[in-house]
Amino acid sequence: MKPIVANKNGRISFLILKSYNFAALSASWPTDARKIMMKQIAIFASGTGSNAKNIIEYLNKRSNSAAKVCLVVCNKPDAGVLNIAANNKVPSIIIDKEKFFRGNGYVDELKAANIDFIVLAGFLWKIPSVLIKTFRGKMINIHPALLPKYGGKGMYGRFVHEAILANKERESGITIHFVDEVYDNGQIILQATCVVDENDTPETLEKKVQVLEHRHFPAAVAFLATL
Ligand code: GRF
Repeated sequence: MKPIVANKNGRISFLILKSYNFAALSASWPTDARKIMMKQIAIFASGTGSNAKNIIEYLNKRSNSAAKVCLVVCNKPDAGVLNIAANNKVPSIIIDKEKFFRGNGYVDELKAANIDFIVLAGFLWKIPSVLIKTFRGKMINIHPALLPKYGGKGMYGRFVHEAILANKERESGITIHFVDEVYDNGQIILQATCVVDENDTPETLEKKVQVLEHRHFPAAVAFLATL
């Protein structure tokens, strides 16, 4: 009897779960079984891609990881994230605005690439509702502030940190949340905070927030993608 079977959705069912040592069993799985079980992640990014880099490396480093970044989706031909994808041998696509917003949001391409989970890491275009519907509960974003404050249209990058300093906030941080039809509105999954000092500038605050992003985002992705 084979220890595992794939059902018609490509998920793995365990026949006698309790009597198996998961680690030993997974080490003996044929490569095909690992491939079926592995959750495939697409990262959408438009910028330098430091978060994309960390997520790719975090998942690659862990031999028992059940998720892998299989695609980088980008809307800027000169974005740094494209080099990061190439250096890590992750395929990337540059998407077309007209097709993204007036077509079907690249749903067909994502399905053809067997993408299970989408991570927005500095992707500035609004996600079309057809894509949100297809990946509801399977698409997360990271925002460089403590939502629901300092979110919404136009609140990205330095604008966020400048607004926080202008309002003399004493705390900022990151928010990882599910994506829904409204900018920065979906259910919050994780927040981590940092202190805002009187002498912070947008640059120093951005650095503090980036430290939090790099510390928490990869592990959160690894966990959430496999649920
Ligand atoms: C991050 O600050 C993230 O919070 C925001 O976009 C930025 C992306 O940075 N959504 P990077 O390109 O990953 O360095």
